[in-house]
Amino acid sequence: MGIAAAYTHQRLDPTTFPPQLALALDFMGAGEVVRELCFLAVATRNRGKEGALADEAVTEALYDIIDCEPEAERIYVLGQVDYNNKASMQMLDRFNFRQLTQGVPPPRGDQRLGWWLHIIDPPQ
Ligand SMILES: CC(C)(COP(=O)(O)OP(=O)(O)OC[C@H]1O[C@@H](n2cnc3c(N)ncnc32)[C@H](O)[C@@H]1OP(=O)(O)O)[C@@H](O)C(=O)NCCC(=O)NCCS
Repeated sequence: MGIAAAYTHQRLDPTTFPPQLALALDFMGAGEVVRELCFLAVATRNRGKEGALADEAVTEALYDIIDCEPEAERIYVLGQVDYNNKASMQMLDRFNFRQLTQGVPPPRGDQRLGWWLHIIDPPQ
């Protein structure tokens, strides 16, 4: 059978953000945390079908993120996506992630990845 989908996420230290993110998150207050959705993938055989399993995986990841931050009043969820990764951008759009910065094609070094943001205000 194998693995159908997988994801990872981690808490980020806001003081280590690249400058463009520091500006976007400048308004962070007490009780607010940032987590990066570092990786999310669906097995090839389970992709498509209008992203049914992909959406289930994102939903699961977001609930897991909330569970990992029980004290947080607000959670900023960040993700990085390659400028060419249409499937991922469509998926994040479906969850109302906002694109903060745009990835750009080579040869501009490590700038292929754009940053995306989703804000969660967990029920207290
Ligand atoms: C991101 C992901 C979970 C989305 O799954 P999904 O919602 O089921 O979407 P699909 O993979 O079926 O792709 C949707 C669309 O993107 C297109 N697409 C998929 N992979 C593509 C690629 N590498 N390059 C260009 N287009 C691609 C598909 O043809 C499809 O196009 P259509 O809507 O016009 O038919 C899945 O594509 C995946 O696991 N990708 C590999 C891992 C990854 O990139 N993760 C994100 C960064 S960590």
